[in-house]
This record gives sequence, C-alpha cells and structure tokens, in this order.
Amino acid sequence: MYLSDIDKKMLLGEEGSAKQFSMQILIRLGEIYGAKRMIPIKSAHVGCLSPQFGAAIEITKKFADLEGKCCVPTTTNPTLNPINFNKWNELNEPLKLQKLTKKQIGHVLKMGMIPVWTCTPYFEGNLPHYGEMISWDESSCVIFANSVLGARTNRTTIGVNIASSIVGRVPEYGLLLDRNRKGDILIKLHFKPKSLFEYGTLGYIIGKLCGGKIPVIENLPKSTNVNHLKVLGASMATKGGISIFHAVGITPEAITKEEAFQNSKPEFEYVVTRKDIKDSIIELNTAKNKKVDAIAIGCPHAGIEEIKELAILLSGKKINKNLHFCIFTSERTIELAKKMRFINIIKESGAKIFLGTCLVFQSTKLWGWKSVATNAAKLALSLPSKPNELDVYYTSLGECVDLAVR
Ligand code: F3S
Repeated sequence: MYLSDIDKKMLLGEEGSAKQFSMQILIRLGEIYGAKRMIPIKSAHVGCLSPQFGAAIEITKKFADLEGKCCVPTTTNPTLNPINFNKWNELNEPLKLQKLTKKQIGHVLKMGMIPVWTCTPYFEGNLPHYGEMISWDESSCVIFANSVLGARTNRTTIGVNIASSIVGRVPEYGLLLDRNRKGDILIKLHFKPKSLFEYGTLGYIIGKLCGGKIPVIENLPKSTNVNHLKVLGASMATKGGISIFHAVGITPEAITKEEAFQNSKPEFEYVVTRKDIKDSIIELNTAKNKKVDAIAIGCPHAGIEEIKELAILLSGKKINKNLHFCIFTSERTIELAKKMRFINIIKESGAKIFLGTCLVFQSTKLWGWKSVATNAAKLALSLPSKPNELDVYYTSLGECVDLAVR
C-alpha cells in the first residue's frame, strides 16, 4: 500500500504510540481488503461503547492508556448511560455494570469524543456533506450516511473507528470507492408507505430480498422525509447487512435510475406491494398475544417529530401500572421537547424517557420482562436474540399507545 510521508511518520511512532498503534491496525485492515492507499477523513462515529460488548472496554482503555486523542470530530453511539441509573428503582442496572460503564465513559472522554450518545449523530451536529470520507460505526448510522447524505464510510468495528479517529485516516476500500456503490437490485414499489411503521417494515422486506446487495428503490413517494429514510435504512441494514441503498429521485447518488445503477442493468427486479407489508408484520411478530411487559419506542432514537406525535397520542391518558412505556432518545432532543412543552404531557401519562441509551443494552431479563411491543422493525429483529431474548409484538405507534393505556 502506498504510504505518504505523514503515514510513515505515524507508523514509525514519531507522532506517539497511539498513532503508531492505530496505523498498524489500519494498514493491516487495508492490506486485507487490497487498499492502495490511506485517505483523510472528516469525522468518526463510534459504536459498541457499552461494557456488554465483550472486549469493547479493553479496546477503549488501550487507546486511552496510549494517550490517544481524536483528531477529527468523533461522536458516540448510545451506551448504558449513567444518566438513567437510579431514575426508576424497578428498572435499575446491576452495580457491577454501572461501575464498568462509568469507567468506559472515562476512557471515551479522555480521548476527546463528543458524548452525544445517540444513533442519530447527523441530528446532533455530526453532519457530513455529500462525498465526504468518514469512519462511522453502527449499522443504522452507516446506511444513513452512505445513502441519504452521500458521505462515504465502511461499516467497521470499535477498534478500527477509534484508530481512524486518532490518525484521521482510513484505508481506501469498499464503499469509499465509486465502483462499489453501484446498485445491484431494482425494487419497484406498487404502494405508498405512509408511516414510520410502514417504512420500517419496507426496510425489513428489502433487507430480506437483497441481503448483502445494493438495492435501488423506484417509486418511493415524494412525501418521504428524513425520519422515514432513517427507519427504512435501519431495518434494511439489520435484516440484510446492507450499508447503502439508493432511492430514485430522492437519495443523492440516484437522481436517475441509470445513475444509481451506474448505467448497468439490475441483476434482479422485485415488486413490493401492500400485501408484502401485511405479511411481514405477521412475520416480525413473535409474541403469542398482546399482553406485553413493556412498550419500546425510539429505534433509531426518536426525533423531535416522533416525540411530538407521542405527546399528542398520550395527551390526557395514563399508562397502565402493569407495564412500562419506554421512549429512547437523545439528551438534546429532550431539551427541545421540554421547550416545546411535550415533556410534561409525556411524563404525566407515566411514560419513561431513557436518554442516550438503547433497549438492547438494558437488563430486561433481570427486570423479568418476557415480551415487548414496538413500532420499530429494527428492534423487532434484535430483541428476540441475546441478551434480551424477548418476544415482540410488532405494531403501529397508535396501537402501542392503545395497548399501554387500556
Ligand atoms: Fe439505536 Fe439501539 Fe436502535 S443503537 S438503532 S436505538 S438498536
């Protein structure tokens, strides 16, 4: 691989041990993927920063002990955030986990990461422009950055992202190259998705049809907004391991169908109808009935529009004392929601707001939860597996609220 003078300096340790260690990792990665050179990045976003992710705490500690510092703006994905500890006695985390989390956050802050603790960093100031090279982690963030923003990132791991953040460079391979961003499969929509719930379900269908390939969606309605694209990508990435999609006339690398396919022919074409949506909702349901322990909303993190919709739906209602209504979002969104007077309405209903975290990190087994209702396809796909092993009742936001206030 070609190395510039600055790459060589860092590799030789002339810029400190953290940069040397980081370059060793990135060059090895580049060799594996046949990269020809290292290129500069403008930002990083780091996931898996919770102690439940096996070696994550050791990896973070290693870089922090070497005095590694982020040299590009680097935001953080949700973690088991201490801001929620001791808020609700019945939903607390084991002390050991609380201690480990605080330690890991110490390492993250020492390196100078920006502690937004959200999987929607693009709403929190980490907003790359079209064509910008970045190093992001967490599947929903990666697919959003590549597809909706037209920025360029591979989906890597915590160690690679921290290393990239410390040296401000990545090996050039995969989705950083034009040729690997070409659409493979044409998805023709024969219906108009209407809600976040339907967009999330559509993402699940496309993920199932296109696993590992790049979908190009035709006929996505012009009313499609940024929150629709957020949930569409999140479930597509989780179901199909997809890191980029194109939507003709909507996403920046698909002004036309020809541009999305880079003037080649699709390998396959699929038609998706409203019946597929209905069938998939049934498929995503693993719960035997509607009797759930909790409702989970906000995956990816709920934005201000979703909080507003919740406030309207929950207004004047009381959550049934036998279940927990949990909303996952970021600290900054909640600040805004306070100013807009949505928070009082939500709190008065008895719903709980979790900040900077995510249901998949919570000790739901210890809390005795067996089943959860959600409107998020990504959660419906994730919660049945370890560590949560929950049954999921997958339904619309309106029905989630109805279930909770009965
Ligand atoms: Fe975000 Fe957690 Fe969902 S990290 S995308 S809320 S699974």
